[in-house]
Amino acid sequence: MERSVVGIDIGTQQILVLVGAIGEQGEVRIVGVGRIPSRGIKKGVVVNVAQATEAISEAVDLAEQSSGYQIERAYVGVTGVHITSRNSTGVVGVSRRDHGIGPDDVDRVLEAAGAIILPQNQELIHILPRTYTVDGQEGVRDPLAMHGFRLEVEAHVVMGSSTALQNLRKCVLGAGVQISELVLSSLASGHSILTDNEREMGVVLVDIGDGTTDIAIFIEGAVWHTKSLPMGGEYITSDIAIGLRLPSQAAEQVKISHGYAVANQVAEDERFTISPYGEGSPVPIARWKLAEIIQARSEEILENVQQEIKRSSYDGLLPAGLVLCGGTAQMPGMRDLARSIFELPVQIGIPRGITGLIDRVSGPDAAVAVGLVKWTPTLEEGGGWRTVRTSFVGRATGWLRNLLP
Ligand SMILES: Nc1ncnc2c1ncn2[C@@H]1O[C@H](COP(=O)(O)OP(=O)(O)OP(=O)(O)O)[C@@H](O)[C@H]1O
Ligand SMILES: [Mg+2]
Repeated sequence: MERSVVGIDIGTQQILVLVGAIGEQGEVRIVGVGRIPSRGIKKGVVVNVAQATEAISEAVDLAEQSSGYQIERAYVGVTGVHITSRNSTGVVGVSRRDHGIGPDDVDRVLEAAGAIILPQNQELIHILPRTYTVDGQEGVRDPLAMHGFRLEVEAHVVMGSSTALQNLRKCVLGAGVQISELVLSSLASGHSILTDNEREMGVVLVDIGDGTTDIAIFIEGAVWHTKSLPMGGEYITSDIAIGLRLPSQAAEQVKISHGYAVANQVAEDERFTISPYGEGSPVPIARWKLAEIIQARSEEILENVQQEIKRSSYDGLLPAGLVLCGGTAQMPGMRDLARSIFELPVQIGIPRGITGLIDRVSGPDAAVAVGLVKWTPTLEEGGGWRTVRTSFVGRATGWLRNLLP
């Protein structure tokens, strides 16, 4: 029988709810989509509980209508500058040596890696294993069933502000949906757009949304570094609004219709018309001028990403380069701009491995929601970079079906 999984991506600009039917082989068919403009969210974080709850509820209703399912439970993406992360280690003695290392040992060692002194008002979100060591033998990917006395792990630990997480939970619960798990957005998007090979070789996922830019570095199949920067497409829009003297909605429209991220790739004579403040009638404007505004801000965002990658000190370990996603990755020219800054291969990532209503979720801005819908099967298969939800992380609710048809 098919299981169903729901993913909810609560972004600064849009809320996207997807319902996926999971086949016997783990294949994902998108059977419901609810997409609406976001409210009550700033830079990826809830700033108005009532508005955000209402908006989530509307998006959930739409997804229910389009799928005919009743949504009870969902994986929910989480982002924002309140998210912090660090690498940590854990060590335990193997409990039943004659049987080899069991799932309990793995849980315990991850729990040990997560037993760090949490900054005040912070909660753990993920403890992601990078590599295990069994009795001194390093580089073990999957220690299950191996024989040994001592199990060590190097893990990437992701934390977030309790206040921000509580507000997010409140909104989702207020919309009548239980939370299976909060998932860091960049992990979800990495899950939907990166290939195993890219993750193995070393790749940076960069989700440039509206209010945030989320970065996740994957090396040797695991997550080594994550960061959420408080910048994105809304900055580009506000620069256009100021530069061309337009109301922000008009600036957003101009950005989507005429935007380009590399000014010197735009023909000099290309023009479009706008209606700026203080002008009685529409005026023509050169497209390269718009592109200059966009390029300046896009460069700044990408340079911040570059600094963060350097700060991680993994910058030399990324032969698969960058994969961009998020709505702002749809800007024409963005790939070329990123390529010139990073001098690495750059791709625009689109969600893969899904069937069903794919025309509605085929863009890079659906990466998080698709990754959330695909979250369970890979975890169950032990896809090499799993999140472990122990009692320590809390809120474990099992891998049960999210919905009733
Ligand atoms: N074709 C396009 N060209 C340029 N920018 C675009 C295009 N389409 C969407 N965008 C921009 O993408 C951004 C929205 O992206 P996305 O839906 O990924 O953000 P979000 O998830 O709502 O926000 P965040 O993740 O930052 O909280 C907006 O700034 C929007 O203007
Ligand atoms: Mg987003």
